[in-house]
Amino acid sequence: MLIDSYDRVVDYIRISVTERCNFRCNYCMPEKPFSWVPKENLLTFEELFEFVKVCIDEGVKKIRITGGEPLLREGLDTFIKMIYDYAPEIDLAMTTNAFLLKGAAQKLKDAGLKRINVSIDTLKPEVARDIAGKDVLENVLAGVEEALKVGLKVKVNMVPMKTVNAEEIIDVLEYCKARGMSIRFIEYMENQHAKAEIKGLKSPELLALLREKYSFSDDGFDGASPSHYYTMDDGYRFGIIEPYEDDFCKQCNRIRLTAEGNLIPCLYFDEAMSIGEAVKRGDIKGATAVLKEVVRTKPEKNRWGGEDGESSNRAFYETGG
Ligand code: GTP
Ligand code: 5AD
Ligand code: SF4
Repeated sequence: MLIDSYDRVVDYIRISVTERCNFRCNYCMPEKPFSWVPKENLLTFEELFEFVKVCIDEGVKKIRITGGEPLLREGLDTFIKMIYDYAPEIDLAMTTNAFLLKGAAQKLKDAGLKRINVSIDTLKPEVARDIAGKDVLENVLAGVEEALKVGLKVKVNMVPMKTVNAEEIIDVLEYCKARGMSIRFIEYMENQHAKAEIKGLKSPELLALLREKYSFSDDGFDGASPSHYYTMDDGYRFGIIEPYEDDFCKQCNRIRLTAEGNLIPCLYFDEAMSIGEAVKRGDIKGATAVLKEVVRTKPEKNRWGGEDGESSNRAFYETGG
């Protein structure tokens, strides 16, 4: 079992398979051109799988494939199948922007993927274009419908932003509710790659807007998820991920791996250690040692909402949030 210095059990790894993305969401990526990591620097799926086995053998129970946009990486279904065949009981999930999902959903499901989380920030095509930098909504919604059709469980993430999509929170919630998908609103996390003018809605503002329309009870956290959950009178549950309000770090159970093989103990901070060399050498002991060291150095808490209003240097597209 992997246990950190604050007695938290780490049993969840988020694996980014590419930091490339076919969107340019303005809360995630810089507007100005920037360069991607050269493809030859990425770990191969075989190398990633060697590390996945180390993680599972050390007690990891949940694996999430992320990006950038994971569906840009060819052969993803084969990687998912490798993990599934090694440990079918693992909670195997993916976070995607869904643009390419329509053509991929069935293959992913057949390979052993259990569930996906998708961003739907708006139901208005022009707003989606403003956020993502190109026309995306039609493909995204078609991807979501297909995922539901093939039997993948789907959760939706929405980042509510003032003057952008805040007035759509009810519409997006109703869209999800009608399809049996849970929705989590995510407080916009300031970071140095996002557009400077963005102002996210903080959870109290969001709750006030939701209370104008619904009545609901506060259920608190559900296990180790960073989401705070609320149940409406008709039983529908929605969540808010509120790094500015909540201390979900107390129950944090996760670490993140970048596509280049850097293992990151916390979304907020820059610190990372590479597993790349060890994995390329086939040095399982070495990879296990790096894993344990990263778990040992997991910080107690992020600093969003800290007194000095710090923002993070870390790019969300590198680790898929
Ligand atoms: P579930 O397994 O469905 O609970 O998913 P998840 O919440 O782990 O995954 P998802 O990729 O949907 O995460 C949603 C978003 O929540 C992330 O992209 C981040 O923006 C935020 N989030 C997830 N984990 C953390 C965390 O450890 N710290 C902070 N600050 N935010 C997080
Ligand atoms: N703040 C909050 N959430 C973010 N995401 C990306 N960047 C940010 C940010 N700055 C979310 C996306 C996606 C998830 C993977 O991360 O909306 O749903
Ligand atoms: Fe948008 Fe996710 Fe791509 Fe970032 S990584 S630009 S949040 S789709």
